[in-house]
Amino acid sequence: MIRAGVIGATGYTGFETVQLLARHPAVELAFVTARSDAGKRVSDLYPVPVDLVFQRLEEVRLADADVLFLALPHAAAADVAVEALAAGCRVIDLSADFRLRDADRYAAWYDHTHPAPHLLSEAVYGLTEWARDEVRHARLVANPGCYPTSILLALAPLLHAGLLQGATIIADSKSGVSGAGRQARIGSLFAEVSENLKPYSIGRRHRHVAEIEQELAALARMAAPAGFIFSPHLLPVTRGILSTIYVPLPESWSAAALRTLYQERYGGEPFVWLLHEGEHATLAHTVRTNRCAISLHSVPEQGQLIIVSTIDNLLKGAAGQAVQNMNVMFSIEETLGL
Ligand SMILES: NC(=O)c1ccc[n+]([C@@H]2O[C@H](COP(=O)([O-])OP(=O)(O)OC[C@H]3O[C@@H](n4cnc5c(N)ncnc54)[C@H](OP(=O)(O)O)[C@@H]3O)[C@@H](O)[C@H]2O)c1
Repeated sequence: MIRAGVIGATGYTGFETVQLLARHPAVELAFVTARSDAGKRVSDLYPVPVDLVFQRLEEVRLADADVLFLALPHAAAADVAVEALAAGCRVIDLSADFRLRDADRYAAWYDHTHPAPHLLSEAVYGLTEWARDEVRHARLVANPGCYPTSILLALAPLLHAGLLQGATIIADSKSGVSGAGRQARIGSLFAEVSENLKPYSIGRRHRHVAEIEQELAALARMAAPAGFIFSPHLLPVTRGILSTIYVPLPESWSAAALRTLYQERYGGEPFVWLLHEGEHATLAHTVRTNRCAISLHSVPEQGQLIIVSTIDNLLKGAAGQAVQNMNVMFSIEETLGL
């Protein structure tokens, strides 16, 4: 059995990870930690039959876990990662702390100095479908962000085929409210969110721009795309992300040829669902699953390709992909527990 610990287990992604691990046939939950709710039972907070008590981080022995899931805010996660690696654990960090490979870029986007820059070159960016070999051997996996997962999976086949050189990419994304975490904030209140659709940080202001641009460049076989514009929106649903992505239609590529490119890359992927021609990816295709659904829409008269991609932000965008990465790291069936 793999012994797993979850740090920050009372938050949305932490709790989602606990739920997945509690029913995972190859995992034994060694401990789950919390701050303000330490001492309470899991079932005191969430209506699920998980018979565990949240402990303080200081009370647990990190070495009792083979793998540690960090579901903490950025900056808090890095310090725990350092301790966990020293204790011999493998680490899957759901925060943004190890996603950017450059400490200066991290400081510029996250407004503070990176707490453990020496680990940045070691961390593996865990977009599982495109990084299996590296994830398998990793000590430290930077689990991708939710918006980046929906956008990168949608674009990766084009990038890998060298079809977006010099292109400007526009991603218009909508996220459910759980994307902001469980912390009380006025902007997440029901009365603020319901019956509205609200853009925020549009253009190039959202922190995920840095991560997406880094990975667009990494996935591009030849020259990277020239520009990336990102417009996130807050959607009045609890969970789910839908990204509508506009790219130039690759010259002399028919809709059928593009579909074949995606089918060849994703045909064997258990968690990527390429929809049939004429179908549109919706939140209902993916919410409460670890899937990413993708639909392709060519607009040849305007030289445009529109890709719609959806995920559950708490699963394929966080806990689900983290467990998928754990399965790869421990060489067990990738779909186990998912
Ligand atoms: N929500 C999403 O859709 C999503 C998707 C992908 C990645 N992520 C990333 O995953 C991480 C967790 O997100 P979340 O949405 O689950 O957040 P959350 O619901 O706000 O939960 C955060 C957890 O961390 C604990 N915590 C907060 N500050 C801490 C500190 N300084 N030291 C130790 N523990 C602390 C909280 O406990 P207390 O309440 O007791 O402080 C809580 O258990 C974040 O880095 C986030 O960016 C989130």
